[in-house]
Amino acid sequence: EIPGDWNGRDATLTWFEGLVWFRKVLELDAVPEGRSFLHVGAANYRALVHVNGEKVGEHEGGFTPFAFDVTDQLKAGRNSIVIGVDATHENTSVPTPITDWKTYGGLTRPVHLVTVPDTYVHDWFLRLGSDSDLVATVRLGGADVANRKVRVEIEALDFTLDGTSDAAGTVTVKAVAPADLQRWSPGAPTLYDVTVSAAGDVVSDRVGFRTVATDGHRILLNGEPVFLRGISIHVETLGEPPSRAFDEASARALLEIAKNDLHCNFVRLAHYPHAAVMTRVADEMGLLVWSEIPVYWDVAFDNPGTLQTALHMQEENIVRDRNRASVIFWSVGNETPQTDERLAFFDAMIKAALELDDTRLMTAALHNVRGEGGVYVVDDPLAELIDVVAVNTYQGWYGRAPLTRVPGLEWQNPSGKPFLFSEFGAGAMYGFHDPEMEKFSEEFQEAYYKVTIEMARKVPDLAGLSPWILKDFQSPRRMHHAYQDYWNRTGLVSPRGEKKKAFFVLRDWYKEIEKQ
Ligand code: GCU
Repeated sequence: EIPGDWNGRDATLTWFEGLVWFRKVLELDAVPEGRSFLHVGAANYRALVHVNGEKVGEHEGGFTPFAFDVTDQLKAGRNSIVIGVDATHENTSVPTPITDWKTYGGLTRPVHLVTVPDTYVHDWFLRLGSDSDLVATVRLGGADVANRKVRVEIEALDFTLDGTSDAAGTVTVKAVAPADLQRWSPGAPTLYDVTVSAAGDVVSDRVGFRTVATDGHRILLNGEPVFLRGISIHVETLGEPPSRAFDEASARALLEIAKNDLHCNFVRLAHYPHAAVMTRVADEMGLLVWSEIPVYWDVAFDNPGTLQTALHMQEENIVRDRNRASVIFWSVGNETPQTDERLAFFDAMIKAALELDDTRLMTAALHNVRGEGGVYVVDDPLAELIDVVAVNTYQGWYGRAPLTRVPGLEWQNPSGKPFLFSEFGAGAMYGFHDPEMEKFSEEFQEAYYKVTIEMARKVPDLAGLSPWILKDFQSPRRMHHAYQDYWNRTGLVSPRGEKKKAFFVLRDWYKEIEKQ
């Protein structure tokens, strides 16, 4: 099945991370007019693409879309499309083979044959500028891209932007935003139909307009302070075996638990770009999104090829999602060592991100915060380069500190920037109850959430949190035969969506602060 992952298809493939070939025979009455592209939503981890026996390209990176021009290879009649997908990761990959999540291999997102005119709209970005102008950047592709009339329209607002492309086929135009434009927010997720036309090509999308900024320790959405009531989420469907292949129903199923049951206004889509449908549904439902590139743990920061991989992955993610109002953060990585090479690597990523989109906030999930006597000072040099400082902490779960010690822990954030807990959590096996609160009992996880929330409430300028994690997920590192069996049990819900006792502890706090 495409989209799909081979892991769930057959017991012999559950942990297979090698090379699998996919083939589709496509009957065409005639070769389409214009240019045709094979567009792949994602292939984990490397893809080699052939059409009618001719190699048309290869791609590295398991979670972002790519497309190859196949105009010259297609023919009337039978077309053999062959894609090799190799899930092997190396130490120079992004991520490396060492992750705390299962490697799902395959064409995990939809594959489309896309036909466009000879001159077409390659991509576009429409956003509210800081001075409440509406700014459109449009890039044309194909032939004769220079000097072409470009029009961006929001019919519902009777708003039109007209421009002419430059020699490279790009144009940026802006105008004062219409007075009756409704800003997008979690409470009022207003989306507008936007149409972009040039040289006979017409494309459209539904876009929300909002601004996000920081003011000292505060995060401002449309100029107003917002507290992020979040939860972290991996890409795995509810049910067993879980799948990497998300359709709209899978996305809604998870995001509705977050928004409607847990009372979230924020989701951390860990640790890699989720399916395009996920951020579209977040736009519609009104959830703020943390979007992340899987520079996870000890990546080869000193390897130039690895930086190139991370940069093109980040570009593919930003170009795909920069019209999604829900996305407010671009995160460059998670829990990385504090070395000079890592700092240079992230400096390059952050600079490249701002070239593509200067309307969102840059962040990263830090850890390794050294604490003396229960006082943790977040002095990671990366805090200087990002806009929002976020920390993962597991006091009381990893290590031997008793839960009674957790409420008294203190956090200092000398950066003066907004501060989030991007992770905290503890494991529990759904249905395992122990009044003695042995670790992995629901009672332990419930007690852990109570003391950790008590600690979080005391952090003077906390701007939000995204506890780890909504749903149990598969991981090759979680091998405790009784409680894990290759499942990371830090979920607040079981693989089938059954809510553990800790779920209600977080929900009650979110309901309380939602009213404030
Ligand atoms: C880490 C990491 C997660 C991992 C979690 C855990 O912080 O960021 O990917 O799953 O902790 O240990 O469960």
